[in-house]
Amino acid sequence: MDAMVVTGGCRLQGRVRAGGAKNAALPIMAASLLADGPMCLKNVPDLADIRTMMRLLAKLGVESERRPNGDLVLESRNARRNLAPYDIMRTMRAGICVLGPLLARRGRAEVSLPGGCAIGDRPVDLHLKGLRALGARLDIRHGYIVGSAPGARTGKRLRGAEMYLGGPFGSSVTGTANVLMAAVLAKGQTVIECAACEPEVQDLARVLIKMGAKIHGIGSPCLVVEGVDRLVGVPHTVIPDRIEAGTLLVAGAATGGDVTVEGARSSDLFALVHVLREAGARVERFDDTIRIRARRRLKSVDVTTLPFPGFPTDLQAQMMALLAVADGISIITEKIFPDRFMHIAELNRMGARIRKEGNAAVVHGTRRLSGAPVMAGDLRASAALVIAGLIAEGKTTISRIYHLDRGYERIERKLAALGATIKRIKER
Ligand code: UD1
Repeated sequence: MDAMVVTGGCRLQGRVRAGGAKNAALPIMAASLLADGPMCLKNVPDLADIRTMMRLLAKLGVESERRPNGDLVLESRNARRNLAPYDIMRTMRAGICVLGPLLARRGRAEVSLPGGCAIGDRPVDLHLKGLRALGARLDIRHGYIVGSAPGARTGKRLRGAEMYLGGPFGSSVTGTANVLMAAVLAKGQTVIECAACEPEVQDLARVLIKMGAKIHGIGSPCLVVEGVDRLVGVPHTVIPDRIEAGTLLVAGAATGGDVTVEGARSSDLFALVHVLREAGARVERFDDTIRIRARRRLKSVDVTTLPFPGFPTDLQAQMMALLAVADGISIITEKIFPDRFMHIAELNRMGARIRKEGNAAVVHGTRRLSGAPVMAGDLRASAALVIAGLIAEGKTTISRIYHLDRGYERIERKLAALGATIKRIKER
């Protein structure tokens, strides 16, 4: 297994580009199940989760190929394979996004429930609620969601419906994606209230429209879909990854650096920009580029994670690493995944003073962190530990970085190009 060794103390400086958005690419790849003909996707990052989705789609009769120029081409060829097995689903929750397309296009699906993960329970009740509203019959059997569209044998389809897709923590990103992908081929009109507004859902909606779907209200909490009979494969360039861009900006600010991130669309990163400015960083925004400078010690700020356009939960851990050395006390409240605080214990091992209080963390900023061996429990927590390692005195070894590799393409190269002392090693 690989580990990352980071020697702290340098200011990051320079220009770097964020790659394509993993969380946009995954549901768009699942949309290939809906298409007649090949989909050709550009700007799909080369990440473990993307390869897992390729394997899952292969089980469902979708052939995919990474071309030498980086394009990912997917084509659904065998419509009789509708089983998404547990051994793949347990490693990547986004696999659930095949459920809606399978029901809509093939009228049948057997998809393993993905199970919980390090950041919490992660139920799929909203996915099921939305698909049932469209007429799907869904049962849970032996850990699998077994579903069919009404009258599947006679070629009947899902039917449009009005639904409210809000849960106790707001909208659901992959839930909205799943239901949207089912609704585009349903008969009649579907109205999804409390739809997720995240840029990744917007990107999916745009690609579906290119494929022939009729969707109104993109980027708003009310999506209106007029079902169509057929969708075709199209070329599409996936949006840049706002979470990778945000991670690089936080790393720049945390190290007192001067970092310009390309592929950082400010419309996707309002909340982060606002919080970093409040903490005292200088942030300049251009079309798809953001420059951050932070010369002095940053100030404490309170952060609350919320659905888009609120502060993203996927940047909460990284922001906590930054605030661990800020001047003053910060309160970080997690409103999406109330248990997403596994990184607190590891940051405290590096000298941070952070206390969990229910769904909030009280961060007493200290002047310095000290390098230590640490272990990451999930993807974004790993990124937070890398940032903590960049700030800390001495050497930090982060184990189990396969989590990091699920969401960041060669992050050590990008950080090293900005002046970080970071290397990947093989652990015994
Ligand atoms: C997606 C992202 C993930 C991000 C999260 C929140 C992908 C592949 N992953 O995950 O990186 O952290 O959005 O921005 O895009 N919930 C329910 N019932 C459901 C579904 C969700 O109660 O059926 C709850 C969840 O437990 C959570 C909240 O709703 O508290 C938001 O979850 P959701 O938006 O669904 O997260 P994902 O789509 O799984």
